[in-house]
Amino acid sequence: MACAAEYADLLIERMGSNPLQILIAIQKAFNHVPDDAICGVASALGLPISRILGDVEFYSFLSREPLGTYSVLMSDSITDWMLGSRELFLRLCGNLGVGPGVTRCDGLATVGKTSCTGMCDQGPALLVNGLAVTNLTDDRVDAISRLMEKQIPLVAWPDEYFHVESNIRQRGWLFQDWQGPILEGEALLQEMTDAGLKGRGGAGYPTAKKWASCRDAPGRERYVVCNADEGEPGTFKDRVLLQHCAGRLFEGMALCARTVGAKKGFLYIRGEYRYLEAHLETQLAARRDADFEIELHWGAGAYICGEESALLESIEGKRGIPRVRPPFPVTFGLHGMPTVVDNVETFCAAAAIAAGGGSEFRSLGTAGSCGTKLLSVSGDCARPGIYEYSFGVSVNRILEDCGAGNVLAVQVGGAAGSCLEASEFDRKICFEDLPTSGSVMVFDRTRNMREAALNFSRFFAHESCGFCTPCRVGTGILAQAMERISEGRGTEADISEIGNLGGILKASHCGLGQSANRAVRDMQRKFPEHFEGGVN
Ligand SMILES: Cc1cc2nc3c(=O)[nH]c(=O)nc-3n(C[C@H](O)[C@H](O)[C@H](O)COP(=O)(O)O)c2cc1C
Ligand code: SF4
Repeated sequence: MACAAEYADLLIERMGSNPLQILIAIQKAFNHVPDDAICGVASALGLPISRILGDVEFYSFLSREPLGTYSVLMSDSITDWMLGSRELFLRLCGNLGVGPGVTRCDGLATVGKTSCTGMCDQGPALLVNGLAVTNLTDDRVDAISRLMEKQIPLVAWPDEYFHVESNIRQRGWLFQDWQGPILEGEALLQEMTDAGLKGRGGAGYPTAKKWASCRDAPGRERYVVCNADEGEPGTFKDRVLLQHCAGRLFEGMALCARTVGAKKGFLYIRGEYRYLEAHLETQLAARRDADFEIELHWGAGAYICGEESALLESIEGKRGIPRVRPPFPVTFGLHGMPTVVDNVETFCAAAAIAAGGGSEFRSLGTAGSCGTKLLSVSGDCARPGIYEYSFGVSVNRILEDCGAGNVLAVQVGGAAGSCLEASEFDRKICFEDLPTSGSVMVFDRTRNMREAALNFSRFFAHESCGFCTPCRVGTGILAQAMERISEGRGTEADISEIGNLGGILKASHCGLGQSANRAVRDMQRKFPEHFEGGVN
């Protein structure tokens, strides 16, 4: 193979000038990003070396140090912990004779951790050289260890290891095959307004209003971006939509493009979903729309890139640091041009409304939350997976349908969401009560919520981009307090710190920092007995 710098030149010729996508390809080819490749990419693209170095250091799937031939990342999400991932991690390290995060001296393997693989319904899961392996057991971990020791290439590993089940448990309005005459432009905006479509990525902004603002903003060109970063622990519904409804998603993006006047779109997809690449490329190739091109843009292991302005920075090939807002992407988005950023489910819903689903959509849900919502249900239940409900469904109903018994707590909205105790299970999923991008995690009475609090606090400390002090420092303090409490070394000061940090974190620059202590504080308030054991 060519040396890394020459390879960088070759890649730029083949793949274009996006530094992040080039660095991901270099990482794959060399198991790291060598220094000469960093210099090579910088010089070929006319960018400062510090900018490329900044990318390599920011994205957790890129590394300056050589990783093993097999680079393994075990999911560290709370639902995987509940299924034994920590024990399996140690077993894998033991089998291979390698320390956590350290590359074996013969270069065979590196075994580290990653925040969440998006496989919470079929965990424990890991990534090996970027591909997800699901349903891990002791036997599967032992078999994988043997395959690695024998240096068997991944293509010769059993297919079932890489099988990703869709687990669609309940279909509703969105999964129907809407086939009517397609509305476009002003007619579509009106239909979406009448239907009451709001964004499905969490914030619930009215979609038609966003598209109209982008269309009306001054700009030489416009962009349409689909947010498929789906990094919130416990969320995996976009994975299933990308698998089953990619055609409808691209149709929704194209309808948006025609409405706002965009010629170019991006699907920003988390690196953990690399197994979907061939499927998505085939679906894109089958599109016949010369006026609107859609490009895949792969993430590289940074939860913050789900925040829309960080995502745009990332598409521009920079570190995913959230921008100061306003201006919002609809006026100042990709390359400073008006841009619509919407969630996968939002574009799918828009396409279904355009094909005749508008009035039925309007008739479903609650006054402030029309239509249906896909929920990703995981944790202690018999039937984890995807459930489509009309907005307004109660937590009790979800628990009944997914086969959850003896339930202690339900976490709605992922690590950034709310933790509910049993007396709150009659609350409803909707923007007026419990808004969520889709994550519902179930904890039964055998669980200690201190574990969940520890997991979430570590998650935020790890995923904070470090740009602003309240979040960088606050998430660190929170994680340290939870570490002490979990090890039985906590103090009363640690307990009060959990509550008090809210004031500091509120001053954070973006939603990550602002919501970082919400779940931990809920858990400590509702289950104080779980925390008391850890306090001297
Ligand atoms: C820390 C953080 C992470 C986010 N992650 C996602 C994500 O993975 N997917 C998503 O669609 N929106 C995510 N969002 C919300 C986006 O910023 C944005 O509101 C959304 O993509 C807009 O699309 P919608 O109007 O269709 O919901 C995140 C926001 C924050 C603050
Ligand atoms: S709040 Fe956290 S994630 Fe957001 S900009 Fe500040 S440091 Fe970065």
